[in-house]
Amino acid sequence: MRNILLHIHPAKVPETSLRFDRTFGLGGMAALLVVIQFITGILLRFYYIPSPAEAYDSIIFLKNQVLFGQFIRNIHYWSGVLLLVIAFLHFLRVFFTGAYREIRKSNWLYGLGLLFLVVFLNFTGYLLPWDQLAYWAITVSTNIIGYLPLIGESLRTMIVGGKELNAGTLQTFYTFHTAVLPFLLLFLVLYHFWRVRKAGGVLIPETREEARMVPVNPNLVFREFIVVLVLLAVVFLFSALFNAPLLEKANPAYSMNPTKAPWYFAGVQELLMHFHPVFASFIIPAGVTVFFAWLPFLKFNAPPNGLWFISEKGKQSAKSTAVFAILVTLAGILFNEYILNFEMILTGVPSFISNGIVPLLILLLFMAGYYRFYLKKFTLSKEELAQAIFVFLMVAFIVLTIIGIFFRGKDMELGL
Ligand code: HEM
Repeated sequence: MRNILLHIHPAKVPETSLRFDRTFGLGGMAALLVVIQFITGILLRFYYIPSPAEAYDSIIFLKNQVLFGQFIRNIHYWSGVLLLVIAFLHFLRVFFTGAYREIRKSNWLYGLGLLFLVVFLNFTGYLLPWDQLAYWAITVSTNIIGYLPLIGESLRTMIVGGKELNAGTLQTFYTFHTAVLPFLLLFLVLYHFWRVRKAGGVLIPETREEARMVPVNPNLVFREFIVVLVLLAVVFLFSALFNAPLLEKANPAYSMNPTKAPWYFAGVQELLMHFHPVFASFIIPAGVTVFFAWLPFLKFNAPPNGLWFISEKGKQSAKSTAVFAILVTLAGILFNEYILNFEMILTGVPSFISNGIVPLLILLLFMAGYYRFYLKKFTLSKEELAQAIFVFLMVAFIVLTIIGIFFRGKDMELGL
């Protein structure tokens, strides 16, 4: 056992890396959730039948006839959702402690790959119950793919295998969900772990004296054990109390109202209500992804110091930017919804310009004004400025997602 542990951990670790607020154990929790997903996913495969005629009934059978069938389905569902949330929080923790730079930059990129894999695992799993929720959520999401410039329509047809979701779509999603993506995830998680060790463990803030080294067992192992027990208790309790959603069997002739994408795409769906589809589905998400991937390659003046939010100035500017992002996003949504529709006032102008370039330029103008008249007074370093931009993007994304999930009702009207 001790030898197995030493494959994962070094024999000794710096005492300061043991502090809970260094990592919050988020990477380890994500890894445990991946293991739970594998085990419960294999158990579900014994009963699930991937065909439109039988998929739904196989879930009903699992729920009603199989001992602990509902419970196992619940664990698989809730730990999938939790994995996405925890991987996202881990991504934020890595960024805000500056651990995305220098020796850790390749691991940041592999981490981004992991985040995409986790999103696509959730997405491909969403369709499998073949109920109304799944059918229509995946229909809107694949329609969003259809908006991508040039390749959109052919990519959508390739994924869906026709005009509407059909047996081929279910088979494709099933194969990706149970065969392709899990193995990519497993491989990438192991590689990610190895890169953490190659980087000498997690980034810790420098102190004047050399960090004291302590044996990994029991110091780290005991803490990990506690985190594992607490996380298992939370997942089991939640799964015992709340069932994974299941509506009536999919009916292609009767669409849901509102038809919402899965919750993690609610932000993109909300963007679609305000921007031309090419901007909402491609230009903005691709721009943000490029920014994340490009971040570690920026030339900063000093190496990362491992402190949360870099400095006191960094913390203050991040807080102000978060408030600014909330106000601008909410104001933009309300303004566009109730007061000004650029497409209507700029009649005759192509929608790509009136509903794409114009609102994006206005948004960039607001950001430039915020920088010029407020943020500049902090005299931020390059990394503090990159952090402020990151905060803006993240907070705006979270606000859009919350609006999309909780404040869009019938016909996607805004309201409570
Ligand atoms: C399935 C998803 C993931 C798993 C299982 C995972 C696992 C881990 C673990 C166990 C660590 C050690 C420290 C810690 O617990 O925080 C770690 C560190 C790290 N992760 Fe992840 N991770 C995942 C996703 C991500 C994502 C989405 C990113 C960012 C894009 C990322 C970037 C990093 C980096 C750069 C480190 C080194 C941090 C440091 O040295 O302080 N990981 N990861």
